[in-house]
Amino acid sequence: MKVLVHIDDAEQWRDALARRLPEAEVITSSAPAEQRREADYLAVWKPPATLLREPRALKGIVNLGAGVDALLNNPGLPEGVPIVKLRDAGMAGLIGDYVRYGILHFQRDFDRYRRQQHAREWREHAVVDKPDWPVGVLGLGAIGARVAARVAADGFPVHGWSRSPKGLAGITCHHGEAGLDELLARVRTLVLVLPDTASTRRIIDARALAMLPEGASLINPGRGSLIDEAALLEALGEGDAEGRLRGAILDAFPEEPLPEASPLWRHPRVWVTPHMAGPTPLGEALDQVAEALRAFAAGEPLETVDPEAGY
Ligand code: GLV
Repeated sequence: MKVLVHIDDAEQWRDALARRLPEAEVITSSAPAEQRREADYLAVWKPPATLLREPRALKGIVNLGAGVDALLNNPGLPEGVPIVKLRDAGMAGLIGDYVRYGILHFQRDFDRYRRQQHAREWREHAVVDKPDWPVGVLGLGAIGARVAARVAADGFPVHGWSRSPKGLAGITCHHGEAGLDELLARVRTLVLVLPDTASTRRIIDARALAMLPEGASLINPGRGSLIDEAALLEALGEGDAEGRLRGAILDAFPEEPLPEASPLWRHPRVWVTPHMAGPTPLGEALDQVAEALRAFAAGEPLETVDPEAGY
């Protein structure tokens, strides 16, 4: 089996994958074109369209990330080739940390204390107890379910939402359109871990933001396309004075890097991070990649991506 790897640090991935899969020949996209054309499998993150078109008899693609939006939108993606994506692979723990930090940031008033520090103002705010701070998690896939469980383990009541019904221990699960409204009306912090699909695009629009309780906060380690940015800015209001939306911690944006002209960079109640919430940890990811490639080669059943659903 010949596997072509394309990602930042591809040499490191190639060497580590070759150690896990001694039966395979593993090359990177800098190998000569005649070798690239012979690849049976691709293990890739955001490959150029030309690279996807090269292999003569491609049997499968492993997406080296959790979100398949970039791959499915790639004009070079060949039709009918099965795609496997990373499921959690250590990302959920990292995203969980990001989210827990974000919730505490608002629940323990770090946003307010930062502003007070600038004004040298010594004033304590009464703590809102965790049981009185419901958190909503939109998206209950491999990552969302683990994030929800960790937030619940911290003592926050957690409401989860998915398109179709799900049952998760310790989480109040909602689904469908009516379920989304129910969740939005209840939560003090809303967390987005949905994939970018036709049905999730701008799911957080003016209507959704208006359903959140006054003073709610938003954390988005998912995809930028989930939020209508103009509606978000409107709900935040301007300056230091807390608007209907108290603040937002954002890691993903429709255009990345976030353009210099974006008002989000300068908003005093927005925290911008550069899509760092859930980097793919090499070790666990490679275990999944090796497992997927072995199953592909052995013709064993695999959980593949549904291109129609977008995940
Ligand atoms: C990162 O954003 C990923 O989808 O893995």
